[in-house]
Amino acid sequence: MNKNSLLFLGAIALWTLSPVLSETSLAASAKNNYRTYCAQCHGIAGNGRGINIRDMSVQPRNHTDAEYMSQRSDEDLAKADKEGGLAIDKSVLMPPWGDTLSPSEIKDMVQYLRTLCHCKYNSQ
Ligand code: HEC
Repeated sequence: MNKNSLLFLGAIALWTLSPVLSETSLAASAKNNYRTYCAQCHGIAGNGRGINIRDMSVQPRNHTDAEYMSQRSDEDLAKADKEGGLAIDKSVLMPPWGDTLSPSEIKDMVQYLRTLCHCKYNSQ
């Protein structure tokens, strides 16, 4: 391999890694967890339109819906994430993730959900 092709491969490697390097590791891991565990229902973009939805009798929450999401406290979101839909009187189709995600991963996930809705909890 000559010097130019090595430089070219190096540039490709940097270009591939740059989105990863530019994010903090916490945010990056919540995003990865979301893509791994949540996207099949909630969609990669969090809009509630994952590949499972055609046959689901209750549709997954649209996490980009700021109006709805701002009515849910961080505790509610964490509880839904950890204990599943039933724990917050919602559908059993939302699975419990407490055996899969650690408490700190769930905390980070709630922050990630807040970046999807661009919203905070608004208690009124
Ligand atoms: C198998 C499909 C499925 C997967 C996978 C899934 N969800 Fe859900 N989720 C749902 C459904 C369905 C609802 C809506 C429940 C309802 O409205 O009764 C929901 C609702 C929610 C809610 C809203 C709770 C509320 O307060 O209204 C949150 C938060 C949530 N999911 C987070 C997650 C996170 C985080 C993950 C990944 C760790 C995830 N979900 C993975 C199906 C899924």
